[in-house]
Amino acid sequence: MFNHWRSRKPICRPAAEQRLKATLSWWHLLALGVGAIVGTGILTLIGVGAAKAGPAVILSFVLAGLVCAAAALAYAEMATMIPAAGGAYSYSYAVLGELCAWLVGWSMILEYALVVSAVAVGWSGYAAPLLQHYAGVPLQLMQGPDLGGIINLPAVSIIWLVAGLLCLGTRESAAVNAVLVLIKLSALLVFSVAAFGYFDPGNLTPFMPFGFSKSLAADGSEHGVMAAAAIIFFAFYGFDTIASAAEESHNPNRDLAIGIVGSMLVCILIYIIVAVAALGAIPYTAFADSPEPLALILRSLGQAGTAQFMGAAAVIALPTVILAFFYGQSRIFFAMARDGLLPAPLAKISGYGTPQRSTMLTAILVSAVAGVFPLADIAALANAGTLIAFMAVAVCMLVMRRRQPQTILKFKTPWAWFTGPFAICGCLYLFYSLPQQTQAYFGLWNLLGLLVYAGYNSKRGLGRPGSNV
Ligand code: ALA
Repeated sequence: MFNHWRSRKPICRPAAEQRLKATLSWWHLLALGVGAIVGTGILTLIGVGAAKAGPAVILSFVLAGLVCAAAALAYAEMATMIPAAGGAYSYSYAVLGELCAWLVGWSMILEYALVVSAVAVGWSGYAAPLLQHYAGVPLQLMQGPDLGGIINLPAVSIIWLVAGLLCLGTRESAAVNAVLVLIKLSALLVFSVAAFGYFDPGNLTPFMPFGFSKSLAADGSEHGVMAAAAIIFFAFYGFDTIASAAEESHNPNRDLAIGIVGSMLVCILIYIIVAVAALGAIPYTAFADSPEPLALILRSLGQAGTAQFMGAAAVIALPTVILAFFYGQSRIFFAMARDGLLPAPLAKISGYGTPQRSTMLTAILVSAVAGVFPLADIAALANAGTLIAFMAVAVCMLVMRRRQPQTILKFKTPWAWFTGPFAICGCLYLFYSLPQQTQAYFGLWNLLGLLVYAGYNSKRGLGRPGSNV
């Protein structure tokens, strides 16, 4: 049944007729990276993290950022070695074999799809008050059933809007993305300047009220610095969406390394500044459960105008995250279909040079999830998928260093034998620190993946093109 599980794909760019159009330059990739990273994590989940760790959520940001940075370095090495759509899935196929690639691709479907859904729900949280105030849309149509609503229509709508943009062509959507990234960054800058004016060290004590490692709170939820880091991790990833776009960049070797490492460093710096400003401004208990913590902090400081700007910027700019992950998701479907692991029509490229069918399939699935499920649950499950994909990339990087030490690397992970194992152990520890319920759902998702893979294997013949052993 598992005849092909060890087969590996040759390391090369796909044939010209199966390649996506090269329309992206390094600054498109950097903007795509920052656009994908800065989003619901810093704008909304900072409150969830503060509830789990207290002021020590600052430490959670540092730890999650370090693990993500180590994974980003391994990602940059693999992305410049194998510049093909599909990111971690493609590296795993080339290095670890088909079964691992399938499981990584399966995890990435979870990551990318659920990030799109989660951020759409987060966006709707900011948009709902405006829609209610200016357009009279009833709240029941803007919230999922967990909050007493019927369906989250703004979340569904924003997903279809982004799907339309992507179908029109890569370059256009990447250019729109760059403008929105600037709006988002200026909002965070304005927030930090305003909040630092009220910095009170007293708000940072006691610093670590719930301890370091994950432990059970009285209400049955998990808390501690690591439990918060496992959620805050959501805020840091997104640079991997650039790797999924590798095939569409003019100069993948140089541009990918700049895009991945650059966007990661920019975001770590911004997050630490915003987190310290937020935690120092008011007691964390005042914003821990807010759906719009940064705007709430500004309002509490008497800065209503700035709070409005913050909210409007979030509504305008959060779609950049949806755009980048959506872009990555449709290309994972595309890469898996091109390899014969998903139905072939998903690999068809339209007249615009974009994979429209995989974009449409993605839109149907993620909008269905966004319409009914709550944000925190979606985000935690997205993190589980991402952690597995990142671990796989670090393993691929180390295996290639051992298997082909003579390879001339276009981007070299610094201190690879420290950075790689650090990324792997860090991802494992973060996975352990996720809520137990999330871990169980993730196990079920993978079980389903194995069943689908087994079903697919029993149907196909030997000697499928594109594989070697
Ligand atoms: N890092 C992205 C966000 O925070 C997924 O929204």
